[in-house]
Amino acid sequence: LVAGAPTAKPIILRNLAAPRYFGAAANTTFLFNDKNYTEVISTQVAVKWENIEPEPNGFDFGPADEIVRFAESVGAQMRGHNFMWGNQLPPWVNTSLTATELDKALENHITAIMDHYRGKIYAWDVINEMISDNTPNETFKDNIWTQKFGEEAMPKALAYARAVDKQPKLYINDYGIESINSKSDTLYDVVSGFLADGVPIDAIGFQCHFTLGQIPTDLEANLQRFAALGLDVAVTELDINLRGPANATALAQQARDYWSVVHACVNTRRCVSVSVWGVSDDHSWIPNGEVLPWDAEKQPKPAFYAIADAF
Ligand code: XIL
Repeated sequence: LVAGAPTAKPIILRNLAAPRYFGAAANTTFLFNDKNYTEVISTQVAVKWENIEPEPNGFDFGPADEIVRFAESVGAQMRGHNFMWGNQLPPWVNTSLTATELDKALENHITAIMDHYRGKIYAWDVINEMISDNTPNETFKDNIWTQKFGEEAMPKALAYARAVDKQPKLYINDYGIESINSKSDTLYDVVSGFLADGVPIDAIGFQCHFTLGQIPTDLEANLQRFAALGLDVAVTELDINLRGPANATALAQQARDYWSVVHACVNTRRCVSVSVWGVSDDHSWIPNGEVLPWDAEKQPKPAFYAIADAF
């Protein structure tokens, strides 16, 4: 079908994606003035600690509630992002607490948020970006969580999450783990250990912030080796950075790159979703990056049609 041709039916990615989900990271600022939010329909809600619990036990659910209400109004599934991360922490968490106090704060944070959204969020990124970039010399990133809890940090968060609510799928989410490499090998070993020890973990999120023409050729093999552990896998933060002008050649390559990523997910039985990190290029966290499937005027780019084709 040709977009805009009089007889063309609208291309709805969520319908094409079924039984998988296709979605986008949502932002309340853009929620009510972007028609693509109804097309790009499985929504990811960011509940970062500094925003949702800026003061001890002082929760601000307002913005995330708006996104959840929107998602419900359009029948979208929601994944939540995130509980344990070294970034975007309020000062009260990132300084001065003893290990015991931090432990209580973590349990309270996870419990309050998961209670609040019980029944509304099917997947939580319990863990975000905890694996070191200096593997195999170092396993975990150096941050407040590993400083206070060492290798117990991730199991603690996962166990608190499972204790609150058995329903949502519990994810470990990271970047740089999309190919078979030292970092993903380290994660594979950590997760294998968790499974052997009964640490609750259901799924791995692969962020997939990629650069043009550099989609790992072993992405699918890598997704499949994690799936073979009995885990779900998901593409959670996909975007493809042109790192240059958005001419026709670059946009065609970007479309092929989006196609390969979605294709790798579709070929992996346990791959449950593909989420892009934003909707249109004016929303991206990468300034002037032209990294997403819709352009700044909310028009579908070649990447959009490639995604539709790959599903
Ligand atoms: C980004 C947000 O999109 C920005 O708005 C914020 O300023 C910084 O964080 N990996 C992640 C996301 O897991 O949480 C990050 O989101 C992008 C990289």
